[in-house]
Amino acid sequence: MFFFNNILEIHLHLLTLFHLFMYHFFKFFLFFLSPEKAHYLSMDLLKFLNHIKLLKLFFSVKSTPKTIFGLQFPNKLGMAAGFDKNAQYVDVLETLGFGSVEIGTVTPKPQFGNPKPRLFRLKKEEAIINRMGFNNEGVEQIIENLKKYSNRKIIIGGNIGKNKDTANEEAYKDYLECYQKLYPYVDYFTINVSSPNTPNLRALQDKDSLMKIINVLQDFKSNQDVKKPLFLKIAPDLNIDILKDIVAVYQLTNLDALVISNTTIDFDILKLEKEKAKNIGAGGLSGKPIFEKSNQIIREIKYIDDSVRIIGVGGIDSGAKANVKLDLGCELVQIYTGFIYKGPSLIKEIVEEIG
Ligand SMILES: Cc1cc2nc3c(=O)[nH]c(=O)nc-3n(C[C@H](O)[C@H](O)[C@H](O)COP(=O)(O)O)c2cc1C
Repeated sequence: MFFFNNILEIHLHLLTLFHLFMYHFFKFFLFFLSPEKAHYLSMDLLKFLNHIKLLKLFFSVKSTPKTIFGLQFPNKLGMAAGFDKNAQYVDVLETLGFGSVEIGTVTPKPQFGNPKPRLFRLKKEEAIINRMGFNNEGVEQIIENLKKYSNRKIIIGGNIGKNKDTANEEAYKDYLECYQKLYPYVDYFTINVSSPNTPNLRALQDKDSLMKIINVLQDFKSNQDVKKPLFLKIAPDLNIDILKDIVAVYQLTNLDALVISNTTIDFDILKLEKEKAKNIGAGGLSGKPIFEKSNQIIREIKYIDDSVRIIGVGGIDSGAKANVKLDLGCELVQIYTGFIYKGPSLIKEIVEEIG
């Protein structure tokens, strides 16, 4: 038995080394492509490997399911919104070991997003700047995509937004349409009012706009048999007065959690590639440099009201950093940019660290 356990352990270590080597080998070539091409090429390849059942042979992540927000999460690590905008890769992300995936941001109508190029790597900073602008296939098509995942354990969150051409005064109608239509197909929802790439979207983080949007969604939910958790995703660029308003809205509207945080527009936090970033132009910065900034918002929210429940996202690129967010009081964590730089071995590292 001892002998077999040792063999198994050696096999798992070799597998981890193999993942690291393979990812760095592929990354070398992938990083010659534009970031957007690299994204779809690598995910389509993984989708194919998953389809022919090969992916499972290389990825095995041990974890114990946890019930949080009344949902059974296979583990506490999620893929953050924006990675699988159209719910095309839910099965792949499940095989890779994620406990959840936030699809979207989904808007009522399909839209192309901003002109390309709109996704940029800051390699030395292990960061990304994006100004995608909610490119997605629209809620109707995304529902068709979601119907393919009938047999799944991974938790799916629906991250919802408004179309670019919808005025802020009418925005609540877009959020409601996505919410109502997606309601049977996802396990929880996140209201996204914090992307910097849809003109004026972040203005919806003010108290009155938030109350309007959240209340119409909660009204709809009150008539449903199954009550699905509702989260609000906020920017890391908010001052203490706005954070206080957000906590008040959270309490008044019975939100289930805040997702902290989205990307930042503050490029001054960069140390190595500030000039390059400024030349790229407008966009949201994610990855290693935003770790502290998003943690600071988590601390401030907890300081205002310790009972606010939080999902921590921003700059996680190791098990230790995931633990920092959990120690600050987050109940779940999500990653995006860390996955681009570290590859699938990061999932195993984090899940094994945070249990
Ligand atoms: C290319 C890209 C696209 C994104 N798109 C969305 C989006 O559509 N909706 C959203 O709420 N967040 C979006 N995000 C933000 C991420 O979900 C996450 O909040 C942010 O990147 C911080 O996490 P990270 O440092 O682990 O990447 C996007 C991030 C990136 C890098």
